[in-house]
Order: sequence, then C-alpha cells, then structure tokens
Amino acid sequence: MQEPRRVFVSRRLPGPALERLARRRGLRVEIWPRREAPGPRALARACRDAEGLLCLLSDRVDSALLAAAPRLRAISSYSVGLDHVDLAAATARGIPVGHTPGVLTETTAELALALLFAAARRVVEADRCVRAGAWTGSWDPSGLLGRDLRGATLGVIGLGAIGRALAARARALGMRVLGWSKSRRRVAGVEPVRLPELLARSELVSVHVALAAQTQGLLGARELARMRPGAILVNTSRGGIVDEAALARALRAGRLGGAALDVFAREPLPASSPLFAAPNLILTPHIGSASVATRARMAELAVENLLAGLAGRAMPRCANPEALRRGSARGTRGAARPKPRGGARGPRAGDRR
Ligand code: DGY
Repeated sequence: MQEPRRVFVSRRLPGPALERLARRRGLRVEIWPRREAPGPRALARACRDAEGLLCLLSDRVDSALLAAAPRLRAISSYSVGLDHVDLAAATARGIPVGHTPGVLTETTAELALALLFAAARRVVEADRCVRAGAWTGSWDPSGLLGRDLRGATLGVIGLGAIGRALAARARALGMRVLGWSKSRRRVAGVEPVRLPELLARSELVSVHVALAAQTQGLLGARELARMRPGAILVNTSRGGIVDEAALARALRAGRLGGAALDVFAREPLPASSPLFAAPNLILTPHIGSASVATRARMAELAVENLLAGLAGRAMPRCANPEALRRGSARGTRGAARPKPRGGARGPRAGDRR
C-alpha cells in the first residue's frame, strides 16, 4: 500500500476547509500548532518530506526552502500576494503555486474605505479623546473637525481588482477618482493620470499595487513630497511600497494631514519603528481580508488549489500555470513517489523565525 502523502499547513485557518483536507484519504496533514509563524528552519524541517505546502504570507518560500523540500509538488498560499514566494524557482522546479485572488477583493476594498473614513474623520483620535477623559465641556463646534469624502479627490495607485473595487465605492460616495496603473489600465469613471499628477492632485491616496521589484519603494521621500499639503495616505497593499521613515517625517512635519497603514515592511511592526511616534497615523495589523466569511473562503480556495496541485491538475487559481507543463515534461507528475527518508520529523513548536 502506498504511503500517505505528507502535506504541511503552516497555520490553523478559519472555517471548515482544513478539516476537510485533514480527512482526505491518502494524505497525512500536519498543521503547525502555534499562532506565531514557524521560522525558516522549522519550515524547512516541516517541508523536508512534504509533497504539499499550504503557507501564509509570513512564510518565506525561497530557493533555500525549495532545496530543502525535494518532494514538494504543490504550493498553495493563503494570500493573494505572492511576494513571499520565489515564483521563478518554483516554476523551474515544475511546482505550481496557488493563491487566493478574487475572494478577498471586496473585503480589502472595504478596509481601505474604512481607513479613508477613519483618517479623514479622525475616528481613532476621537475615540482616544473620549477614553482619556479629554471630552470636557459640552458639544464643541470646532472640536475634532475632519474632512468630507464627498466631493474630495481620491487617487488610486494600482487598478487591479481591489483598486477598482475601491474606486467604485468612492464614486458611489461622490468622490472624484484619479487612477494610475503600470499597465495604463482604463477604468470607467476613473481619470487615468501619471503617478506624479495623481500625487499632486489627490486629497486622499490609496495604494493597491502588488509588491515586486518595480514597486518596492514606489512612494519614497520624493513622491511623498509631491503629495498635496495636508493629504491623507492609506496603504492596504504591502509595506515595502511606502518608505516608512519618510512617511513618519512627512507626518511629523505636518506636510501630510494623516495616514493609515495596514501593512508594513516588517511585520509585526518592530517597536523601534519611527511610525509609532508619528502623529495622525492609524496603524492596523494587516487585516485587509479579515472578515469571517472571506478568511473562510480563502481557506476553501487554498485547499482546492493544493488538492489540484497534488493531483497534477490545474489549480483553480495558479500564479504560474506554466509550472504544470514543466512538471509533466520532466515526467515528475504522476510518477512513482520516492520512498520517505528515515529520520524525518515534524516541526518543533519551539522553533522560531
Ligand atoms: C493577501 O492575501 O495578500 C493579503 O495581504 C492578506 O489577505
């Protein structure tokens, strides 16, 4: 009888999808038991004999990990972003990589909108004021005045699914929407502009590009200086896109009116980050897709991707479909699986990044 295939899942996920995966005949599914991510060594150890990996955006799936996982034939990430995966190396090995676009679009656009509202109407500051007992006297005609979104100009950087979903919501609110995308995508109701013009004209700017070599540091000190005085910046995409030190300086200097960040160059945000001391800044812990329904849908799709990849079928949402062709050309798909090596063990809960 054939050995069950080992699958490693790097965290518990909401919803019933993982239970379904674990009950699947022919698979031995191991789920990392801790809330913290496994460190690179623990991940490599866990993947040593694994044929399938279901990972998170906090797991670095680089060429070193792939080299440590010789039997890996399917990777499925519980994320739409894949900047944590070396896609070229996976493709070269014939390993398809699945991800979860589509199911989180609306939820992430809603968070971007929530942060735009929160920053423009100073919601977090107002909450702090009440809790600190600073709400004294009676109703204050000039206390905590914010800005209306209606009639304001929003610049959307990146017109993929999430950027477009935000643009539609902004238009429904009566905002004027400018948009920039690298591919110069045209979107109804969105005025296409170049990035410097978007920065110079928008009162609010929201970032929706994926993190890649071309977008790393896209909004540096020079770009932030181009923004309208008093403008508000929101980022729900990836941290590496905005220069955090430059943003903190612009906020401290009062050049920008406010900002809200859900994503950071390093997560969790290190205590030494200059962002903690920056005024008029809302910080949230990467919760763009964090609704009950969406996180469960992401798990369903991640499991479907994984099962398809393990079976040598096309994944429902694959970032490198060409990997499948490579895998079959090399005859690794459906080929007899090597015997497990002795001495392999699962991840240790004490292992950290
Ligand atoms: C993603 O999927 O890439 C988001 O950042 C988290 O849902």
